[in-house]
Amino acid sequence: MKLCVALDLPTLEENLNLANMLKEFDIWLKVGFRSYIRDGKKIIEELKSINPNFKIFLDLKIYDIPNTMADAASEISELGVDMFNIHISSGAQAMKAVMQRISNKKDRPLVLGVSVLTSFDNQTFKKIYGSTIEKKSEVFAKKAYECKLDGIVCSAYESKDIKELTKPEFLTLTPGIRPFGEDSNDQKRVANLEIAKENLVDFIVVGRPIYLNSDPRGVVQKILKRI
Ligand code: C5P
Repeated sequence: MKLCVALDLPTLEENLNLANMLKEFDIWLKVGFRSYIRDGKKIIEELKSINPNFKIFLDLKIYDIPNTMADAASEISELGVDMFNIHISSGAQAMKAVMQRISNKKDRPLVLGVSVLTSFDNQTFKKIYGSTIEKKSEVFAKKAYECKLDGIVCSAYESKDIKELTKPEFLTLTPGIRPFGEDSNDQKRVANLEIAKENLVDFIVVGRPIYLNSDPRGVVQKILKRI
């Protein structure tokens, strides 16, 4: 299991400070909306210059018509990131278009499909998708697997079932992780490290429990010891 730290801080400087603090660790860094919209390509370059071995997950959750998604995927592949994600609900045609467009690129990034956001509970989810989270995440997982994505973004509770439904190597990345039972904030389906381990999660994403702590290095060290 790998730790992926979410760099969701309010300035580039604060994100780079955090990355500097964590540069000795074998971890992934997640660059999401807030950071990429503000800092663009620069943040990727700066992170790689802090430690070229940092792996970077660009969390932009692409969702559009197939051609636009394939174009975006092609541009993302040139950024030097190691993984990015697209919405599974964009449909099979869009997912296939993305995979086709980048399949012959050298060292292409991994592509994950976003299934059900961990901020949904069953009640709010049903109002939009008309189904339970459990049922829909099975449908999403099968679709993403058929379209040859590398894995899926889901909650820790769905990871094991998704692997059984697809194959063990189909990657699962799970946000909503509260390693030692910290505050869940706006997340609804939170899990701790033990639950993530039991469910064979490949990547845990942790943001606030690390960057809001007065000793982010200490928390990362503690997490790495336990995984
Ligand atoms: O602070 P916290 O640990 O809740 O951060 C979780 C991170 O994972 C945030 O950057 C959020 O955007 C992201 N994420 C998520 N749920 C998803 C996909 C990404 O929480 N399904």
